[in-house]
Amino acid sequence: MRAGRDRSATTRRPIDTSFQQIRAEFPILGRKIYLNSCSLGALSRRSERHLEEFLARWHDEGAAAWYEHWLGRTNLLRRRVATFLGAEPSDVALLPSASAALSVIAESVDHSRRPRVVCSALDFPTLAYQWTVKPRVELVILRSHDGISVDPEQFAAAVDEDTMFLATSHVYFTTGCVQDIRALAEIAHEVGAYCLIDGYQAAGQIPVNVREAGVDFYIAGPLKWLCGGPGLAYLYVRDELVRRLRPRITSWFATRNQFDFDIHHFQYHDDARRFELGTPPLPTIHLALGGQEIIEEVGIEAITARNRELVQHLVDGAAATGLALRVSADPERRSAIVMIRHPDPAGAVAHLANQGIIVDHRPGHVRVSPHFYNTPDELDRCVEVLAAYRPPRGGAGAAALPPDPLTL
Ligand SMILES: Cc1ncc(COP(=O)(O)O)c(C=O)c1O
Repeated sequence: MRAGRDRSATTRRPIDTSFQQIRAEFPILGRKIYLNSCSLGALSRRSERHLEEFLARWHDEGAAAWYEHWLGRTNLLRRRVATFLGAEPSDVALLPSASAALSVIAESVDHSRRPRVVCSALDFPTLAYQWTVKPRVELVILRSHDGISVDPEQFAAAVDEDTMFLATSHVYFTTGCVQDIRALAEIAHEVGAYCLIDGYQAAGQIPVNVREAGVDFYIAGPLKWLCGGPGLAYLYVRDELVRRLRPRITSWFATRNQFDFDIHHFQYHDDARRFELGTPPLPTIHLALGGQEIIEEVGIEAITARNRELVQHLVDGAAATGLALRVSADPERRSAIVMIRHPDPAGAVAHLANQGIIVDHRPGHVRVSPHFYNTPDELDRCVEVLAAYRPPRGGAGAAALPPDPLTL
């Protein structure tokens, strides 16, 4: 689907009618104004059908479906995700969460050799937590000077010969700002460190090519922009590292011959499956296949272009009503996570929910995250209701806008 322009549209910016058809795939869009895809992508009829097929086989065949069908579905998803990320299936492990993927990598290296890990204050906390809990790791958390991003120069200054990982986000969940991960990989590699990227907020809303970017590790998952639900994450490991790393947390799925059930001999799998931690979540694998198919059919380039239009529309509309935004000044570095500063974010989100508009809040901000299936009209309605909301007198947030927590 291509992002064309419909000049007959009546809103400030043109509506691309080609995206209207896809809305029928996502029932929630007929019930709510759903603008929280960076938390949980909308559920599609396609995913539902895949899940129903899984349940039917469970009823009909029980465990026999494992060998006949479900291992095949698991490998199909791995292949599709690998191609989508610009990798080979042998470079991709399936894990139960982004945190589990981070943990297995953090447990695959010798931190005594290089004790330093560098991340940023804008990253999702689970990234830093992996090393916070390791007493011998020196964790450096870089500040953001503008509350939007962290300058690659700051990483270059902090990453040295003692550094094991430059670990940060592709898209910051805090600000939606997109990082130049190729530049970050170069900075890490110049001093022999690994570049680990948390791409959970990137895959499905912007193009990702892990090999072109040259990163060593990349973590994604179906929960958000890939519209595939909770319980699964994708871990890419650069091929030269796959055979070299020997994780210290493991499972029978990580072994070369798992169905030999040989308790006396442990052998890592030759490919990225050596990082896997047990039985894969079959319901999510089926749901994720549905989301993955739709994202690929619509096309990631078209999705990115569509989301950029929606975000510009939202930014213009919010600014016109006097709402204060925290987004990158450079539209090229924006993504579909838009933070609107607010004195009473929780109250505002509850007020919007009462009007059938689903958004979320983070400290000091209302967070609006549209995806390709949303429309400019929905964004207009969200801005209108948010701008009209007044915190209750004397209640939380009744005061003026507090300082931005990310620039303190
Ligand atoms: C950027 C990012 N990384 C990691 C996570 C957490 O992932 P998990 O719960 O799968 O560990 C989230 C969740 O919202 C996220 O936004």
